[in-house]
Amino acid sequence: MRARFLFLLPGLASALTLPATAQELDRLQAHFGAVTYAFYCEACHGETGKGDGPAAASLTVKPADLTTLAARNGGTFPAERVAAAIDGRVEVVGHVDLAMPPWAQLFAHELDEFPPGTILDALVERRIAHLVAYIATLQAD
Ligand code: HEC
Repeated sequence: MRARFLFLLPGLASALTLPATAQELDRLQAHFGAVTYAFYCEACHGETGKGDGPAAASLTVKPADLTTLAARNGGTFPAERVAAAIDGRVEVVGHVDLAMPPWAQLFAHELDEFPPGTILDALVERRIAHLVAYIATLQAD
Protein backbone atom coordinates (compact mmCIF):
# COMPACT_ATOMS: atom_id res chain seq x y z
CA MET A 1 0.00 0.00 0.00
CA ARG A 2 2.65 2.40 1.08
CA ALA A 3 4.81 1.51 -1.89
CA ARG A 4 1.98 2.32 -4.29
CA PHE A 5 1.38 5.64 -2.58
CA LEU A 6 5.04 6.56 -2.93
CA PHE A 7 4.85 5.62 -6.57
CA LEU A 8 2.10 8.21 -7.07
CA LEU A 9 3.97 11.01 -5.38
CA PRO A 10 6.19 12.19 -8.23
CA GLY A 11 3.16 12.55 -10.53
CA LEU A 12 1.28 14.46 -7.90
CA ALA A 13 4.22 16.74 -7.26
CA SER A 14 4.60 17.62 -10.92
CA ALA A 15 0.86 18.26 -11.27
CA LEU A 16 1.05 20.75 -8.42
CA THR A 17 4.20 22.51 -9.56
CA LEU A 18 3.80 25.85 -11.26
CA PRO A 19 4.60 25.99 -14.98
CA ALA A 20 8.29 25.36 -15.32
CA THR A 21 9.20 27.74 -18.10
CA ALA A 22 8.34 31.27 -19.11
CA GLN A 23 6.86 29.85 -22.31
CA GLU A 24 4.48 27.60 -20.41
CA LEU A 25 3.46 30.55 -18.27
CA ASP A 26 2.80 32.67 -21.38
CA ARG A 27 0.70 29.87 -22.81
CA LEU A 28 -1.33 29.58 -19.63
CA GLN A 29 -1.86 33.34 -19.43
CA ALA A 30 -2.91 33.46 -23.07
CA HIS A 31 -5.38 30.68 -22.40
CA PHE A 32 -7.09 32.70 -19.67
CA GLY A 33 -6.90 35.80 -21.86
CA ALA A 34 -8.66 33.99 -24.70
CA VAL A 35 -11.64 33.32 -22.46
CA THR A 36 -11.92 36.98 -21.43
CA TYR A 37 -11.38 38.09 -25.02
CA ALA A 38 -14.19 35.89 -26.35
CA PHE A 39 -16.54 37.32 -23.77
CA TYR A 40 -15.72 41.04 -23.93
CA CYS A 41 -13.78 41.87 -27.06
CA GLU A 42 -14.66 39.53 -29.87
CA ALA A 43 -17.96 41.21 -30.78
CA CYS A 44 -16.00 44.22 -32.06
CA HIS A 45 -12.44 43.03 -32.65
CA GLY A 46 -13.46 39.72 -34.22
CA GLU A 47 -12.58 36.12 -33.59
CA THR A 48 -9.12 36.46 -35.10
CA GLY A 49 -8.58 40.04 -33.89
CA LYS A 50 -8.80 41.69 -37.28
CA GLY A 51 -11.46 44.16 -36.19
CA ASP A 52 -14.25 42.39 -38.04
CA GLY A 53 -16.54 41.22 -35.25
CA PRO A 54 -20.30 41.17 -35.78
CA ALA A 55 -20.76 44.54 -34.05
CA ALA A 56 -18.07 46.27 -36.13
CA ALA A 57 -20.33 47.09 -39.09
CA SER A 58 -22.59 49.28 -36.98
CA LEU A 59 -19.76 51.30 -35.42
CA THR A 60 -18.63 54.69 -36.66
CA VAL A 61 -15.05 54.04 -35.57
CA LYS A 62 -13.79 50.75 -36.96
CA PRO A 63 -12.33 48.54 -34.21
CA ALA A 64 -8.56 48.33 -34.35
CA ASP A 65 -6.94 45.37 -36.08
CA LEU A 66 -5.25 43.68 -33.13
CA THR A 67 -3.22 41.33 -35.36
CA THR A 68 -0.97 44.12 -36.68
CA LEU A 69 0.02 45.74 -33.39
CA ALA A 70 3.56 44.36 -33.62
CA ALA A 71 3.87 45.11 -37.33
CA ARG A 72 2.73 48.70 -36.75
CA ASN A 73 5.36 49.03 -34.01
CA GLY A 74 8.44 48.08 -35.98
CA GLY A 75 8.03 44.35 -35.33
CA THR A 76 7.90 44.52 -31.53
CA PHE A 77 4.64 43.76 -29.75
CA PRO A 78 3.88 46.92 -27.70
CA ALA A 79 2.70 45.05 -24.59
CA GLU A 80 2.75 48.07 -22.30
CA ARG A 81 0.74 50.23 -24.72
CA VAL A 82 -1.79 47.46 -25.25
CA ALA A 83 -2.22 47.07 -21.48
CA ALA A 84 -2.71 50.83 -21.15
CA ALA A 85 -5.30 50.85 -23.95
CA ILE A 86 -7.21 48.10 -22.17
CA ASP A 87 -7.08 49.38 -18.61
CA GLY A 88 -8.01 52.90 -19.63
CA ARG A 89 -4.76 54.73 -18.76
CA VAL A 90 -4.60 55.65 -22.42
CA GLU A 91 -7.79 56.86 -24.00
CA VAL A 92 -8.85 54.73 -26.93
CA VAL A 93 -11.06 56.85 -29.18
CA GLY A 94 -13.26 53.91 -30.08
CA HIS A 95 -13.70 52.73 -26.51
CA VAL A 96 -14.49 56.18 -25.12
CA ASP A 97 -16.85 57.20 -27.96
CA LEU A 98 -18.75 54.01 -27.45
CA ALA A 99 -19.19 54.98 -23.81
CA MET A 100 -17.50 51.82 -22.62
CA PRO A 101 -15.96 52.04 -19.18
CA PRO A 102 -12.22 51.46 -19.08
CA TRP A 103 -12.00 47.67 -18.87
CA ALA A 104 -10.06 47.91 -15.61
CA GLN A 105 -13.12 49.54 -14.04
CA LEU A 106 -15.46 46.94 -15.39
CA PHE A 107 -13.30 44.03 -14.24
CA ALA A 108 -13.02 45.61 -10.76
CA HIS A 109 -16.77 45.99 -10.65
CA GLU A 110 -17.22 42.32 -11.49
CA LEU A 111 -14.95 41.38 -8.59
CA ASP A 112 -16.79 43.56 -6.10
CA GLU A 113 -16.71 40.87 -3.43
CA PHE A 114 -13.16 42.12 -2.87
CA PRO A 115 -12.79 45.47 -1.09
CA PRO A 116 -10.94 48.16 -3.05
CA GLY A 117 -7.22 47.78 -2.43
CA THR A 118 -4.15 45.87 -3.39
CA ILE A 119 -5.70 42.44 -3.87
CA LEU A 120 -8.44 43.74 -6.15
CA ASP A 121 -5.92 45.84 -8.09
CA ALA A 122 -3.67 42.80 -8.50
CA LEU A 123 -6.53 40.64 -9.77
CA VAL A 124 -7.58 43.26 -12.32
CA GLU A 125 -3.97 43.76 -13.39
CA ARG A 126 -3.56 40.02 -13.84
CA ARG A 127 -6.68 39.76 -15.96
CA ILE A 128 -5.37 42.49 -18.22
CA ALA A 129 -1.98 40.75 -18.40
CA HIS A 130 -3.78 37.61 -19.57
CA LEU A 131 -5.52 39.61 -22.32
CA VAL A 132 -2.22 41.16 -23.39
CA ALA A 133 -0.61 37.70 -23.51
CA TYR A 134 -3.47 36.44 -25.67
CA ILE A 135 -3.39 39.43 -28.03
CA ALA A 136 0.36 38.83 -28.44
CA THR A 137 -0.49 35.40 -29.88
CA LEU A 138 -2.77 36.98 -32.51
CA GLN A 139 0.09 38.89 -34.18
CA ALA A 140 0.48 38.25 -37.88
CA ASP A 141 3.99 37.07 -38.81
C1 HEC B 1 -17.81 48.11 -28.80
C2 HEC B 1 -16.69 47.69 -29.59
C3 HEC B 1 -15.38 47.33 -28.90
C4 HEC B 1 -15.20 46.42 -27.87
C5 HEC B 1 -16.24 45.56 -27.17
C6 HEC B 1 -13.78 46.43 -27.57
N1 HEC B 1 -13.13 47.31 -28.40
FE1 HEC B 1 -11.15 47.65 -28.44
N2 HEC B 1 -11.39 49.11 -29.83
C7 HEC B 1 -12.60 49.43 -30.42
C8 HEC B 1 -12.41 50.58 -31.30
C9 HEC B 1 -13.51 51.23 -32.13
C10 HEC B 1 -11.05 50.93 -31.19
C11 HEC B 1 -10.34 52.14 -31.80
C12 HEC B 1 -9.80 52.01 -33.15
C13 HEC B 1 -9.07 53.28 -33.54
O1 HEC B 1 -8.91 54.18 -32.70
O2 HEC B 1 -8.66 53.31 -34.68
C14 HEC B 1 -10.43 49.98 -30.28
C15 HEC B 1 -9.10 49.95 -29.96
C16 HEC B 1 -8.49 48.99 -29.16
C17 HEC B 1 -7.06 48.92 -28.89
C18 HEC B 1 -5.99 49.87 -29.39
C19 HEC B 1 -5.31 49.29 -30.57
C20 HEC B 1 -4.20 50.14 -31.13
O3 HEC B 1 -4.12 50.20 -32.35
O4 HEC B 1 -3.42 50.71 -30.36
C21 HEC B 1 -6.86 47.82 -28.09
C22 HEC B 1 -5.55 47.29 -27.55
C23 HEC B 1 -8.17 47.23 -27.85
N3 HEC B 1 -9.12 47.96 -28.51
C24 HEC B 1 -8.39 46.12 -27.08
C25 HEC B 1 -9.64 45.68 -26.68
C26 HEC B 1 -9.87 44.61 -25.73
C27 HEC B 1 -8.77 43.77 -25.10
C28 HEC B 1 -11.22 44.50 -25.58
C29 HEC B 1 -11.95 43.58 -24.64
C30 HEC B 1 -11.61 43.66 -23.23
C31 HEC B 1 -11.83 45.49 -26.45
N4 HEC B 1 -10.86 46.18 -27.09
C32 HEC B 1 -13.19 45.64 -26.60
C33 HEC B 1 -13.82 48.82 -30.19
C34 HEC B 1 -14.07 47.87 -29.21
